[in-house]
Amino acid sequence: MKDRIDGLIARCRGEIATCTCVQSLTECKVKFLGKNGELTAILRGMKDLSPEDKPIIGSLVNKARDELANELTIAEQSLKQAELNSKLNNEKVDITWVKNTDKSGTLHPLTKIQNLIIDSFVPMGFEVLEGPEIETEYYNFEALNVPADHPARDMQDTFYITQNILLRTHTSPNQVRTMEAKKPPIKMLCPGRTYRADYDASHSPVFHQIEGLVIDENLTLCDLMGTLECVARKLFSADTKVRFRPSYFPFTEPSVEVDVSCCKCGGVGCSVCKGTGWVEILGAGMVHPYVLENCGIDSNKYTGFAFGLGVERMAMIKYGITDIRLFFENDKRFLKQFNK
Ligand code: DAH
Repeated sequence: MKDRIDGLIARCRGEIATCTCVQSLTECKVKFLGKNGELTAILRGMKDLSPEDKPIIGSLVNKARDELANELTIAEQSLKQAELNSKLNNEKVDITWVKNTDKSGTLHPLTKIQNLIIDSFVPMGFEVLEGPEIETEYYNFEALNVPADHPARDMQDTFYITQNILLRTHTSPNQVRTMEAKKPPIKMLCPGRTYRADYDASHSPVFHQIEGLVIDENLTLCDLMGTLECVARKLFSADTKVRFRPSYFPFTEPSVEVDVSCCKCGGVGCSVCKGTGWVEILGAGMVHPYVLENCGIDSNKYTGFAFGLGVERMAMIKYGITDIRLFFENDKRFLKQFNK
């Protein structure tokens, strides 16, 4: 029996020495010391021993179990430490590594200009309310007093999805949606994508507009002029001159177009202003009484003004960019210039 125990100890030690991971050590422990292990089998067989042999063999088995359990624990600790060391070596973090800042993203120049414009209006109490890009013919045209034979309704300008559903050609439909949803006083700004079937150096099939709408009692053209003059000076420079020209839009009466003195040449005349000294920045006007009534607002009690400006156009004027397509090609060399 003693030989059997010694043999077992030797085999167990041999296996411990060859274990290379904690998992194989656990298997070794189960094999020799587990419930169905070899040493336990010897203990079970002790009932057949003579009374003199029992205590001798019993103490040998206990000693073997204690020693082997101890050796297994030591081996396990050293393997765990080795595993941890190799993990620490392989998963090292180099805290001296410097991030390549060239690769971090930035805002697109159009987003920057859009934010700049919104930030000029918000301190005056305007709230930003966005609307859907897929619109019905009613909101895009009908409610805005755009007659059925207006050229804007033409297939060549508008992307129709069905006869009545289209991609909005301007952000003005959100005037109607806002007036339907809110009671005056209203001061809203609607930025967003707009679509027209047009493509050349100054037109892109997708472009951006910002719509403005103010409805209250006793508003006049002077309120419109004062608001827009103030914003134009904030966006360009304090000495920018602002000019209002009579114009026509079906949804405003009277209607105006707003020009600013050319920020490139200061009004002397250059290629940006085509020699005139002025550049047009937006269309505006007093909301047509028909539009107010279409939206359930009493046109005898309330008046309002509205304006719509093109974000690309503003950016082109401000930065002297001559081709609108540059904004959508996303050539990094172009985009990087706005990243200062
Ligand atoms: N919706 C017009 C366009 O896309 C721009 C515009 C003009 C908007 C006058 C207005 C406005 O709100 O009053 O050309």
